[in-house]
Amino acid sequence: MSEYREWDEIYRRHSVEDLPWEMGRPREYLVKLVESGKVSPCKTLDLCSGAGTNPVYLASKGFRVTGIDISETAIGMAEKKADEAGVMVEFVQGNFLNLPFREEFDFLVDIGCFHNVREEDRERYLSEVLRVLKKGGKYYLMCFSERNGKAWNHFSREQIEEIFRPYFIILDMEHSRSLENDGIVRYFYNVLMEKR
Ligand SMILES: C[S@@+](CC[C@H](N)C(=O)[O-])C[C@H]1O[C@@H](n2cnc3c(N)ncnc32)[C@H](O)[C@@H]1O
Repeated sequence: MSEYREWDEIYRRHSVEDLPWEMGRPREYLVKLVESGKVSPCKTLDLCSGAGTNPVYLASKGFRVTGIDISETAIGMAEKKADEAGVMVEFVQGNFLNLPFREEFDFLVDIGCFHNVREEDRERYLSEVLRVLKKGGKYYLMCFSERNGKAWNHFSREQIEEIFRPYFIILDMEHSRSLENDGIVRYFYNVLMEKR
């Protein structure tokens, strides 16, 4: 099983403002899901919670949120963010290949997590996701699109369908363009799924 320990080094070396993915605001698609009522306040797990922007937003909207990240430094940043916002989020340091939860969640958030799962760990990751998500539970995936160029973790619509369709009903898939915090434009797929 891979360790993914290099991530903590990234957070130790950079301030929150310097992280390419840290937009300082929740992801647009997530906000749309909440504001449209497609996902209502529920027991939520944010996989790869990072510096906490998205889980803190969800908590401010009434979701009961747990965030998990491999980086202790990121967990510290996220806890500070939740304190400052005056919301309760449980942040847990841990590996997505061995989720330390026995309970099930209604909603899983995966913003920039799955596309960092190495190919050899994908099956294990998916089995952990399926273990902790209730039947009928929702899963929001935001991952790199092939439009960023050819790479092992840049996905086409067809690849996403092939990986997730056996386990999920795909409710919506939207391609998006985002000017990220490092000034580079990146392309993503935003996918809302329901566990079969
Ligand atoms: C691109 S960042 C996205 C962070 C956050 N979702 C956001 O959008 O701000 C990827 C995150 O995955 C975390 N991560 C990488 N490997 C992990 C693992 N094996 N288990 C849990 N978290 C991991 C990193 O520490 C990092 O915070």
